[in-house]
Amino acid sequence: MMKTLLLTDSPEDIASAAELIKNGSVVGIPTETVYGLGADARNEAAVKAVFAAKGRPADNPLIVHLADFSQAEKYTSYIPALAYKLAERFCPGALTMVLPKNDSIPLITSGGLDTVGIRVPSHTAMHRIIELSGCPIAAPSANISGLPSPTCAEHVMRDMDGKISAVVDGGISEYGVESTVISFDSENSVRVLRPGAVTPEMLSEICRDVVIDPAILNELAEGAAAASPGMKYKHYSPKADIIMVEGGYREFLEYIEENEKDDVWLLIFDGDKADFPYRYMTYGDNSSQQAHLIFQRLRELDEAGAEKVYVRAPSKNGMGLAVYNRLIRAAGFEVIRV
Ligand code: TXA
Ligand code: MG
Repeated sequence: MMKTLLLTDSPEDIASAAELIKNGSVVGIPTETVYGLGADARNEAAVKAVFAAKGRPADNPLIVHLADFSQAEKYTSYIPALAYKLAERFCPGALTMVLPKNDSIPLITSGGLDTVGIRVPSHTAMHRIIELSGCPIAAPSANISGLPSPTCAEHVMRDMDGKISAVVDGGISEYGVESTVISFDSENSVRVLRPGAVTPEMLSEICRDVVIDPAILNELAEGAAAASPGMKYKHYSPKADIIMVEGGYREFLEYIEENEKDDVWLLIFDGDKADFPYRYMTYGDNSSQQAHLIFQRLRELDEAGAEKVYVRAPSKNGMGLAVYNRLIRAAGFEVIRV
């Protein structure tokens, strides 16, 4: 087992993290969305170690993080004018753009695809690590494949202690869900492959057409081709059996009272009144709070030993779509409408 250093976000520690990445090591790094497992995107051995630490399928590509969008020209073969417009508004930030890659990004990084997801994170420590390392940093979320994404250094330590060189503690992730991933359908049109803090409404201010890929809310048919490989895999799943219930709070409670005994857990909104015999947690009462808390709560429910959890479904509006997308996957697409 490797000794995993816990670093702070002091200038010395950030310099150490950058040096480790430059030298081919894997480091847990903070971003404004979730924590990532960072490695030099050009270094095949380092990228291989990222896949190994996560237990990630080799066909699921990694996002490449840059300090500035202008650097995307070094790693891609074509950038549509619309991408520059989007970058002006959303970079740095929680937007990943899928673009045709060039040979400087090895196929292991892109999961065998001829495209690469490019993101420019806004988190100060992360930005500094990219700059100091001089590397394009490939970074998937820093969880073991299939588990909820980590939103603090402690979550990363729990999943990665002994498997990677270091973790940089950069505080709790601001957004709490991963970046919005988009591809370009045409010069004026983008397709949302994964919803995040950059919402379809925000993209519509710049793009003529914004298509929501059906796989965001629906299970892919067996054998169907995924626009984004991540859509194929079971995701964000705690050990507990998660069931989403969509509808008003009263109907939600009535359904559970009729169908369950006292040993289930509920995950409800802050304002929901807890006059019932069940154990419960709450996850905020608006979409950005829910995004901020959802992965932490899924981890906490596991720690509490919850075996079956009824989750009150969030709104699908704005950033709510991102929360709904993560939960419907955690629930294995099991949704009850009341
Ligand atoms: O916010 C984030 O994006 C975080 C932080 C660390 O930056 N990273 C992250 O990476 O969530 P990961 O690997 O956990 O999720 C990346 C998703 C996957 O579902 C993957 O399939 C998709 O983006 N993706 C990456 N490159 C792609 C490509 N070239 N084409 C289609 N989908 C791609
Ligand atoms: Mg992930």
